[in-house]
Amino acid sequence: MSVAKNEYKRITVKTLIDMKNKGEKISMLTAYDYTMAKIVDGAGVDVLLVGDSASNVMAGHETTLPITLDQMIYHASSVVRGVERGLVVVDLPFGSYQSDPKEALRSAIRIMKESGAHAVKLEGGKEIKESIKRILNAGVPVMGHLGLTPQSIYKFGTYTVRAKEEEEAKKLKEDALMLEKAGCFAVVLEKIPAKLAKEVAESLTIPVIGIGAGNGVDGQVVVVHDMIGMTHEFHPRFLRRYMNLYEDMTTAISQYVDDVKAVDFPNENEQY
Ligand code: KIV
Repeated sequence: MSVAKNEYKRITVKTLIDMKNKGEKISMLTAYDYTMAKIVDGAGVDVLLVGDSASNVMAGHETTLPITLDQMIYHASSVVRGVERGLVVVDLPFGSYQSDPKEALRSAIRIMKESGAHAVKLEGGKEIKESIKRILNAGVPVMGHLGLTPQSIYKFGTYTVRAKEEEEAKKLKEDALMLEKAGCFAVVLEKIPAKLAKEVAESLTIPVIGIGAGNGVDGQVVVVHDMIGMTHEFHPRFLRRYMNLYEDMTTAISQYVDDVKAVDFPNENEQY
């Protein structure tokens, strides 16, 4: 078990800031269901993200855009039931916060009230500043998300590295500072140059969690199904696979099929 697990009984937004101040890296993984959340939390992960990547991973959509607020609440409440220690953060899905701050607040309140999660995450910078403030004013902790923001994929046109050019890097730095000033407790930086991510992490007092953003940040997040190798068609450079569960599961399930066909399963000890 990890050191962090022994030291902190329950992770709060304050714990994450303490970790940054102590130089202790923050671990964050996605979870979308009770069983996975229990494993992830039990292994000592600090933050469980109920990401809108559930749209891809759980529902098989090409993008994160189709997942609804009701579906996010279903995933989030399943995760919350499996967690004893970690901080549960939930993505506000596309279309649930972009139109106006009141709608953003209503969506955040539904997530907090109906799932029991601890915080919400929103994609974007100054364009959604008023929504972020409105949610924070209601006492709901907010995590920001800059860089590659998958809800804007049709604007970007590609999932390639963001903020390589000076102009976009400058806007990202300004947005990160704005998120801190507005009161966000952390920011995710997705798929940007490591040098830029390090610079942002060093300039902020709140934790910066990276995905495809190098190791100069305060913590890391990846999609759990990717790191355990359950998904196998996705292999970006930033991903380290710790298992090849796709292959192991395929082997086990084929064996089951063979055993059923051969009337080998169940055997005498496996029946009543
Ligand atoms: O939805 C998600 O999984 C995310 C992470 C990739 C940061 O937002």
